[in-house]
Amino acid sequence: MAGGRKDLVLELRQIVRGFGLGETRIDVLKKINFQLARGEVVALLGPSGSGKSTLLHIAGLLEKPESGDVVIHGKACTTMSDSQRTAMRRKELGFVYQFHHLLPEFTAMENVALPQMIAGKSRRKAEEKAAQLLGELGLSARVAHQPMQLSGGEQQRVAIARALANGPAVLLADEPTGNLDPRTAGAVFENLMALVRGTGLAALIATHNFDLARTMDRVVRLEDGHLSESAPGAL
Ligand SMILES: Nc1ncnc2c1ncn2[C@@H]1O[C@H](COP(=O)(O)OP(=O)(O)O)[C@@H](O)[C@H]1O
Ligand SMILES: [Mg+2]
Repeated sequence: MAGGRKDLVLELRQIVRGFGLGETRIDVLKKINFQLARGEVVALLGPSGSGKSTLLHIAGLLEKPESGDVVIHGKACTTMSDSQRTAMRRKELGFVYQFHHLLPEFTAMENVALPQMIAGKSRRKAEEKAAQLLGELGLSARVAHQPMQLSGGEQQRVAIARALANGPAVLLADEPTGNLDPRTAGAVFENLMALVRGTGLAALIATHNFDLARTMDRVVRLEDGHLSESAPGAL
């Protein structure tokens, strides 16, 4: 890589992951290398089934690769204990899924406050931060609603607030607007980008939407187990 790439927050080194054994085995990730610098926002493109979710789960320390290393702030995570990985994930990583995965019995406020309290913040501090994030996402009037009482776009905004609540260094998002109608998707995506740019955090965002991908700093494409760089302007 060129100079100026020293401030790396996330690195994938020679990541290998497949599923199944013997003749039925599929190699999904074949020695993937990737580097994400501080403040950089990267689109992850690739056909359905190409391994985007698998890659994001591995980068997010939710799954382990068969071989290779995930390096966060210069620390190799593969050899860490489960509790060290969990601590690293809580401190440095925020994850947004295609489906919101909010806790159904809790309000928007509680969904955003809980992960902060698990990380050790007082309820008051956690709720302050939750109110601020939900406010920035235009949800001030929705903080006391449960997920079922929110629209799809609102649910996904709460999920974004939850992912950012602990002030991660890296946001990983798996088709975060893929389940929304195009208009809502565009609006939610704008919210997401504004928050990411405002806090200067790095992000890797899987999407099928070229219009969204074009607004990011870099575009990488996953195909046949390999990751290649493409120019956002060429989409
Ligand atoms: N837990 C699993 N068990 C078996 N196969 C899996 C598992 N997870 C993913 N796969 C397979 O790995 C490939 C990549 O899946 P995925 O990462 O979900 O792709 P994408 O997110 O790009 O659609 C697919 O062929 C999928 O069926
Ligand atoms: Mg997927």
